[in-house]
Amino acid sequence: MVVTVVSDVFHLVHLVFAAVWAGSVFYVAFVLLPLARDGAFTSTKPLEVASGKLKTISRVSSLVLLATGGHLAGNRYTVGGGGQDLFASTNGRLVLVMLVLWLALAGLIEVGAKRFEAGLSGKKLREPARETLPLFRAAAVVGVALFVVGGLITTGTAVRYL
Ligand code: HEM
Repeated sequence: MVVTVVSDVFHLVHLVFAAVWAGSVFYVAFVLLPLARDGAFTSTKPLEVASGKLKTISRVSSLVLLATGGHLAGNRYTVGGGGQDLFASTNGRLVLVMLVLWLALAGLIEVGAKRFEAGLSGKKLREPARETLPLFRAAAVVGVALFVVGGLITTGTAVRYL
């Protein structure tokens, strides 16, 4: 009973942090940075704050998702034994895809934010936004892809069609 409750809480926390992380990078990539690129800001300060906050959200979320995802994977999948194999079953492989995408999302945001802040510290406003936009857009696409992968697993679609 206790194990089930803990597992359910981990599952919920996994979903909530996934939504917060993917949603925040999507907003930055498709709203905030295009505004900065088009000259809507007159000082670097708000953009420095936004970039710092995105990094915090990203770092906390990535750790929470690694912990909760690892717990879910350990609970639901096996390696080499009976049951759903992490490496041999359709859903198990999708969990591994999720792990790779998780790394890509964290990496793209770290690199993007570092370059963006370096540009801002040179007192430039529009240029860093224009230059880092592809990185943040790629991160936003990875975030959406993670939800597609999660959806393929939990709706059973992957098992039905792959
Ligand atoms: C270390 C990285 C991660 C691992 C190991 C992991 C692992 C898992 C596992 C094992 C499940 C449950 C699969 C099942 O029901 O059989 C799951 C579900 C899910 N994960 Fe992840 N995950 C990771 C990162 C992420 C990230 C970064 C996101 C999105 C930003 C994400 C979004 C989801 C979603 C949307 C679901 C479906 C939840 C549901 O059941 O409704 N995961 N993940």
